[in-house]
Amino acid sequence: MSESAAETTTAIASEMIYPSSDVIERARLKDWDALARYAADNLEGFWADEASELGWYQPWEKVLDDSNPPFFRWFVGAKCNIIHNALDRHQATERRNKLALIWVGENGSVRTYSYFALNREVNQFANVLKAMGVKKGDRVTIYMPRIPEIVIAMLACAKIGAVHSVVYGGFSVDALQGRIEDSESKVAITADGGWMNGKVVELKKTMDEAVKHCPTIETVLVVQRTGHQVNMETGRDYWYHDLMKLPIASPKCATEVMDADDPLYMLYTSGTTGRPKAILHVHGGYMVGIYATLKYVFDLRDDDRWWCAADPGWVTGHSYIVYAPLIMGATSFMYEGAPTYPYPNRWWSLIEKYGINVLYTAPTAIRGLMRFGESWPHRHDLSSLRLLGSVGEPINPEAWRWYHRVIGGGRCPIMDTWWQTETGMFMITPTPVVPLKPGSGTRPFFGQEAEILDEAGNPAPDEEEGYLVLTKPWPAMMRTIYKDPDRYVRQYWSKYPGKYLAGDSARRDKDGYFWIIGRVDDVIKVSGYRLGTAEIESALVSHPAVAEAAAIGLAHEIKGQAIHAFCILRQGYQPSPALADELRTHVGQHLGPIAKPEAVNFVDKLPKTRSGKIMRRVLKARAQGLPEGDVSTLEE
Ligand code: WT7
Repeated sequence: MSESAAETTTAIASEMIYPSSDVIERARLKDWDALARYAADNLEGFWADEASELGWYQPWEKVLDDSNPPFFRWFVGAKCNIIHNALDRHQATERRNKLALIWVGENGSVRTYSYFALNREVNQFANVLKAMGVKKGDRVTIYMPRIPEIVIAMLACAKIGAVHSVVYGGFSVDALQGRIEDSESKVAITADGGWMNGKVVELKKTMDEAVKHCPTIETVLVVQRTGHQVNMETGRDYWYHDLMKLPIASPKCATEVMDADDPLYMLYTSGTTGRPKAILHVHGGYMVGIYATLKYVFDLRDDDRWWCAADPGWVTGHSYIVYAPLIMGATSFMYEGAPTYPYPNRWWSLIEKYGINVLYTAPTAIRGLMRFGESWPHRHDLSSLRLLGSVGEPINPEAWRWYHRVIGGGRCPIMDTWWQTETGMFMITPTPVVPLKPGSGTRPFFGQEAEILDEAGNPAPDEEEGYLVLTKPWPAMMRTIYKDPDRYVRQYWSKYPGKYLAGDSARRDKDGYFWIIGRVDDVIKVSGYRLGTAEIESALVSHPAVAEAAAIGLAHEIKGQAIHAFCILRQGYQPSPALADELRTHVGQHLGPIAKPEAVNFVDKLPKTRSGKIMRRVLKARAQGLPEGDVSTLEE
């Protein structure tokens, strides 16, 4: 069961941390139980209430259509566009002069956008996309650094009903190419580079490599960020700043009227087997789900400055940097570079300088900054912080306490939000008034129920580990896997019919609090990034020396998990430390620096089932010196 369990959570603390009277005083929602009871008894009513706080072109006839599970439909018959709520609605109110985005580059440049300015630039870019032939339903690949234009590009696609497919800028050529091919994008958007750790990440170069093999791409739009020399192919590549000066880039653009269930974006993520799959999200239900969760969980107020320190290239960024904060009319902060550049106080100095009220980040970042000691954060006034958040992997109690005490000054509750690319929104999460236990995301969000099941589908007793499932539909849920609805059914809804299989193992304690242990499939969480063993293995075997490869995740103090690879060499190649290094670099170049294995081991054979499937569980047990468990299916 605990094949890929994050060992860091085993030391579990059971004490409750109660919110202070200040926190309760300020909280928008004081009575968690009452709303939870209401939503449990009246799922559609609860979500209809939330939806009514947003703008629609045409109201729904039915909140939830569950007649064809697992293909649930939300807000059936409604017309809307997420951009109508994220940008258009604010233009008629005083929010038009409020800051939507404050951006700081790693090299110190600063840019700010009011709601008015952001809307204007999105309109202009939407018109550019239209001029490039992008139509409703077309896919657009976005491969960019953490700069305002990535937000603008996403919003412009949504505005005209195009489906964005953002590929994280830390991925490299193989990953990018595979995702462009699968999505059949006509247009790709990138930049001449981005700053990370004082160096330029050469995104355009990677894009050039990738599109060589992608015949669907007609146009590549390039944002100038670093000013470094890049190759521009005549007739295919255009500078963003050139096009934005042309008459085609008019600042007026009508927002496309969409059906609630029309696609908004796809986002590739790694799953059980094979190639990454594109999770498809839609306009209507998604905007309601992310709005309600951000509102209740982080309790954003008009005078707040919100910093979600994720990358827009992952679902966290999609939901909680780009869309939900704008729907709420909040001021978002975004920083381009590394938390430790040039010194380990960069984040703390930004919090002080920009008066950040809520910080939402990943345990790996906390652990990474923690190792530099308290003196770095202590040099800064962090008293603007009111709430903290954690996401991406289980947070170990030591990191939780450090975050709470040193960063939050002991006064900021930590919202440990469990969710996934597939869920679109927070699923197991506290709100500020919920008593916390370090390392637990507490209980399911309003309207949701979670269960822990054993292999046979029986509820596991309290405190016992089992498969985590969700039992109610929710509006921001994925609608399908792009081009592969069968896989959607098979992977998420088949092990326990009628229940959503998350792919995590977890336990529930006697207070009904959930504790996530880790993935039970072939997903490795490296620094919170989700990678599939299959992708890493195929990058390894693309090297001429490697005949066969297996990748597993082993516990790592800072990254949570680190990749360990096991390779069988082809005839004529000898194991050596130099070759191991070469293979690590090879994976880094092909798949991306985040996928670079910690260690490459050479072996003569790999443990396999009789049907030829690699038993990563056995590899992992061996590497940890643990019993190998049930090996009855191991080939002789
Ligand atoms: C997997 C989903 C959702 C945003 C980022 C990750 C793990 C996520 C938590 C948490 C323990 C967590 C799970 C999940 N995970 N949040 N708060 N506590 N584990 O999205 O890349 O789709 O990964 O991340 O294993 O299944 P993702």
